[in-house]
Amino acid sequence: MRIIIEPDYEAISRKAAQIVADRIRKKPDIVLGLATGSTPLGMYQELIRMHKEESLDFSKVVTFNLDEYWGLPSSHPQSYHYFMWNNLFSHVNITSERVHIPSGTVNDVEAYCSWYEDKIKKAGGIDLQILGIGRDGHIGFNEPGSSLGSRTRMKTLTPETVEDNARFFENKDEVPKFAITMGGGSIMEAKECLLLASGKNKAETVQRCIEGPICAECTSSILQLHPKVIAILDEEASQKLRRKEYYKYVEKMALKFKKS
Ligand code: PGA
Repeated sequence: MRIIIEPDYEAISRKAAQIVADRIRKKPDIVLGLATGSTPLGMYQELIRMHKEESLDFSKVVTFNLDEYWGLPSSHPQSYHYFMWNNLFSHVNITSERVHIPSGTVNDVEAYCSWYEDKIKKAGGIDLQILGIGRDGHIGFNEPGSSLGSRTRMKTLTPETVEDNARFFENKDEVPKFAITMGGGSIMEAKECLLLASGKNKAETVQRCIEGPICAECTSSILQLHPKVIAILDEEASQKLRRKEYYKYVEKMALKFKKS
């Protein structure tokens, strides 16, 4: 795993956007796996700026989102559909046929989830998967105890996740208790992953994800088995990493080989 430590949230957002833009420029019809939550917001803002000021072209890009709350229509301001259109898609040149976000309102969840997996496969698989990390170690909504080989399916959210998400809702009772999410197995099929984390309240989880045992208790730890992951962390999120100084040293040495 490549670990990049930047001073703060603005710097990780810029660095992540540079990597995404680089991959889009190298492969204009790239298949991106996208994430919601507060962490990737700065990266999306920077990508929008690059689209407007540096002609970053999204016209051939295809996207698949990781997850969606179960029970929220796409028009709900807290749905991930709403989030993605509001924070990225409406501001760049991407058309709705190229955007895929799990539905939060289908009846036959099982059939829908295999259709979603099939769509990803038919698009050629995900080239670059963006990931945030939950305090309980989840990627997507793969809560502790999720099979590390799981596929897209419905998950029951932990009380901790529901509590973390409550800040976005006016009334705590409104916070969805279920979500449809790509599984650990689906995420691991992405050709490259970009994991973002910011702030000291993520420090312990980031340490478990990167240096802890690979286990269903911290589903993001499965990324240790992925051949191509870049973790971009700010100083606060990286403060509990035991080998933090070594990771910084590795990046410094890598400059000699001009890695981007
Ligand atoms: P956050 O959520 O970016 O809002 O911290 C991350 C996640 O739950 O995956």
